[in-house]
Amino acid sequence: MTAKLVVGNWKMNGSLASNRKLVKGMLEDRRINRPGVALASPYVYLLQLADLLQLSPMDLGAQDVSQFGRDGAFTGEVSASMLANVGCRYVLIGHSERRQYLAEANEVLSKKMENALAARLAPVLCVGETLAQREAGEHLDVIRHQLDIVADFPSEQVIVAYEPVWAIGTGKVASLAQIAEMHECIKATGLQRQSGSASMRVLYGGSVKADNAEAILSISSVDGALVGGASLDVDSFGMICQAAD
Ligand code: G3H
Repeated sequence: MTAKLVVGNWKMNGSLASNRKLVKGMLEDRRINRPGVALASPYVYLLQLADLLQLSPMDLGAQDVSQFGRDGAFTGEVSASMLANVGCRYVLIGHSERRQYLAEANEVLSKKMENALAARLAPVLCVGETLAQREAGEHLDVIRHQLDIVADFPSEQVIVAYEPVWAIGTGKVASLAQIAEMHECIKATGLQRQSGSASMRVLYGGSVKADNAEAILSISSVDGALVGGASLDVDSFGMICQAAD
């Protein structure tokens, strides 16, 4: 069985000074400073983190990648090969905040997946339904549609993060039954779409905190966690990483 993965998504937070302090605390914490834990910082701080994590088994991740696959005249964009070049192993693709605020949808996300894999990055494709979609009973169909793009890629190379939009940053967590149902649906959909035999790794994200991590991570279809707010606090993140170990 592959060990559970914990990815801390810092979102648009940090400064050179606060990052240094936070990472120093993480490096001193054996629950965090170990393989299977990754930090996804804003682009501008990736090199700083690569430097701070130099001697650590923790991995580096980016929060997004360009849809454009070759270097050139794409002002403001950051390519997958640049992310690999500065030491990233993981890259988040299609986080619900990007779907919501930047209207990212399957066509663009498929290009991002392709570019990430071509640069040997591990893409973490984020999927999730809104509260209105869940209340209308559409949640499984919404997720299946968001998963349409995985058909083009080998299952063992794709990581999916299930993040119900209504649970992100709200303190509302999906119930253990809701998480298990969706993770099983995602794995089954991946197997059908990809004609492969290995199932995809599926992380859960959405208000994962110190006090609920153990219950969530003990669900057998949960292969890890994508953590937002709690990844900005050493002790909370430490408890979550410990629950995943
Ligand atoms: O990428 C992380 C997720 O959006 C979860 O964020 O843990 O602050 O709810 P949160």
